[in-house]
Amino acid sequence: MRSKPWILLGLIFLSPFLVAAKYDYLLEVGEKTVKSTECKECHKSIYEEWSKDFHSKAYVNAPFKQGSKNYTSSECIPCHTAQEIAEEKNLKTRPVHKEEGINCTTCHLRNHMIYGTYKLTAKHKAEQDESMAKSEFCAGCHMPTFQEWQASGSKKTCQECHMPRTEGKSVQGFLLSMVVPKRMIGQHLMIFEKLLKEAALITGETTRESVKISLTNRASGHNMPTGKYGDYRIVLQTQVKEAEGKTIFSKEEIFSTLKKNGIPPQQTATFDYSVSFETGKRYKVSSTLMYRVEGRPEQLIASWNGEI
Ligand code: HEC
Ligand code: HEC
Ligand code: HEC
Ligand code: HEC
Ligand code: HEC
Repeated sequence: MRSKPWILLGLIFLSPFLVAAKYDYLLEVGEKTVKSTECKECHKSIYEEWSKDFHSKAYVNAPFKQGSKNYTSSECIPCHTAQEIAEEKNLKTRPVHKEEGINCTTCHLRNHMIYGTYKLTAKHKAEQDESMAKSEFCAGCHMPTFQEWQASGSKKTCQECHMPRTEGKSVQGFLLSMVVPKRMIGQHLMIFEKLLKEAALITGETTRESVKISLTNRASGHNMPTGKYGDYRIVLQTQVKEAEGKTIFSKEEIFSTLKKNGIPPQQTATFDYSVSFETGKRYKVSSTLMYRVEGRPEQLIASWNGEI
């Protein structure tokens, strides 16, 4: 039985590979690509963020279903349910689980390998791809926004604003989460309240004849709003009310991806409204900025209040 120690040594040497091989089904592509629920087994928190993120709705959301003529406009499909990251003209449709839109495998799986920004020892095979932390990573699908971002000279990447890192564990669940250390994890929910609240600044000036409102895009990443598809709107509403509550003036300015009139980064749009105030009376002036996307609840971005 001279060979026994060798077998044992061989097994010890091979064990990490055997464990990794057990999870090789995660690396399948095409028809065999796994659903994101397979990744949820271990990456539960990230999965939950992603399921609230609009990347996970990219295929099933009503405006897309309608816009793509019930999924018959073939030029619309590859980007909204992509197999993997690629330049715009090379994007390919994932043949399965289309309803998951842009899912875990779209962003993380290529050449039968799972890529991340770290060099981690995972249950599955994983390799480091530092380009995942760069804005270029998002450009294949977001080219118009990427170009605005490039022109702005922004010091922050798309990920620094949309996927801020916080300390935590990338894996949940008993046992596995006990051996995995805490590290900085990128958030997988791209539009969130704090980001919107920092996006814009409204200032106002009033005289006896006019109300002047200025709106600054201080998000600085790209136009506000940005994009080539869909209907993303930023709505500035200014109102003047008498002390008793009666509205004497109301005006809405709409910035939208459809109108292509988004405010460029760090720039200010100014509106001078003439309002006839009666002498001796008191008025309340308010201006609010709302984030409005079809089929979603409206969100308040910023506001300004004045008196005259
Ligand atoms: C494979 C294509 C693809 C890649 C890669 C991609 N996106 Fe997207 N992204 C989309 C599509 C399609 C939508 C529209 C989703 C929808 O239907 O609302 C979208 C929407 C968004 C939105 C808006 C969400 C909303 O509220 O509608 C943000 C923000 C965003 N992406 C940021 C990013 C960032 C940051 C990256 C890079 C880390 C990235 N995306 C990579 C395709 C992609
Ligand atoms: C739109 C592209 C995109 C989608 C969809 C996506 N990720 Fe990520 N993921 C990234 C990027 C970019 C990073 C790097 C973020 C960072 O480290 O700053 C990342 C990081 C990670 C990490 C490593 C921790 C970290 O922050 O570096 C894990 C684990 C991960 N993702 C798992 C998942 C899982 C599981 C899903 C599906 C539920 C998923 N991702 C969906 C782009 C994506
Ligand atoms: C059996 C558990 C398990 C499953 C299932 C799983 N992972 Fe992981 N994954 C891990 C562990 C463990 C790590 C290392 C975590 C750490 O050290 O923070 C990891 C790390 C990662 C990383 C970071 C790699 C790096 O080097 O930066 C990414 C990205 C990732 N997984 C994506 C996925 C995706 C996508 C899926 C689904 C296709 C998936 N994982 C399924 C356990 C799992
Ligand atoms: C400095 C922070 C910042 C950077 C950098 C940034 N964004 Fe944004 N992004 C925002 C904010 C704030 C919003 C919401 C308000 C708005 O529309 O500007 C937003 C909204 C979006 C939207 C939804 C459409 C819209 O305008 O509401 C998309 C898509 C998007 N960003 C993609 C990207 C991509 C892709 C990059 C990198 C090329 C990027 N962003 C870089 C802050 C940033
Ligand atoms: C190159 C990738 C790409 C292609 C091709 C593409 N889209 Fe999109 N789509 C996006 C991105 C990225 C967004 C997020 C907003 C933006 O940047 O325009 C988006 C957002 C949308 C939205 C808004 C979703 C929402 O939640 O309100 C609709 C609707 C939409 N696309 C319809 C279409 C239709 C219809 C086509 C075909 C004519 C199409 N898209 C082709 C990338 C793409």
